[in-house]
Amino acid sequence: MARAVLISGAGGALGSALVAHFAQSDAVVVAAGRGVVQAELDAKYGVGRTLAAPLELASEVGWRELVERLTREELAVDGAVLAAGGWRGGAPLSETGDDVWSSMLAVNLETARVSLRALLPGMLGARRGSIVLVASLAAARPWESAGAVAYAASKAAALALVQATAAEALASGVRVNAILPSTIDTPANRSAMPKADFTRWVAPASLAQVAGFLLSDAARDISGAALPVYGRVGV
Ligand SMILES: NC(=O)c1ccc[n+]([C@@H]2O[C@H](COP(=O)([O-])OP(=O)(O)OC[C@H]3O[C@@H](n4cnc5c(N)ncnc54)[C@H](OP(=O)(O)O)[C@@H]3O)[C@@H](O)[C@H]2O)c1
Repeated sequence: MARAVLISGAGGALGSALVAHFAQSDAVVVAAGRGVVQAELDAKYGVGRTLAAPLELASEVGWRELVERLTREELAVDGAVLAAGGWRGGAPLSETGDDVWSSMLAVNLETARVSLRALLPGMLGARRGSIVLVASLAAARPWESAGAVAYAASKAAALALVQATAAEALASGVRVNAILPSTIDTPANRSAMPKADFTRWVAPASLAQVAGFLLSDAARDISGAALPVYGRVGV
């Protein structure tokens, strides 16, 4: 079996930086989620370095098919970074529709739950593995999320999911952690907040290095952590 690292949300801004980071390692990178195209990944990283897995990440069936495919291709996933997620907000709770509430829980919590359920059995069986969930500063400091209650609640719930799951997996040696970025320096954020000081934000490549550390053996004694990665945003 060859070693593989799986990135969920691989078609997004942070996800692409994570794929680029782990494509430099000796593991095959499984790029999972919407918007991943094998030909584009091959052109960037070389044939055989990545496996594109277009997938609805909240679908148990989709994950089952992916896990079967990885077994057929003799890839053992011993690291994963769950970077799928999204943000909707801009109104107080009383004006936040059910659609916003459900979409935040779906994209930030349900994708995490279904991804963990799909990935953990293989890692627990091998008694080896490390998973990092990308939560948010909003999970640790929800009082700064006025106007984005659904987002903050979904990220806080995802963090609780990770920390309780970490406790369940601890004895097996499988580790589960969360990183909490402040604003990430993405093209979408630059165009939404053109007057902001981008130098205070967190670069995707910097987050990829933090995730790389948590997946590595150097972090062998860290599980259940919620690691702030706030860049130059004051605490
Ligand atoms: N950007 C920030 O400032 C910031 C700050 C703190 C935390 N975060 C978190 O960091 C992570 C990455 O953020 P980002 O800015 O890179 O977001 P992004 O560019 O929107 O990337 C997210 C990716 O996940 C995919 N995705 C979401 N739900 C999916 C599903 N159910 N099935 C398949 N694919 C799905 C999206 O596909 P579609 O585009 O097709 O939906 C997109 O490719 C997210 O968890 C986000 O909440 C971001």
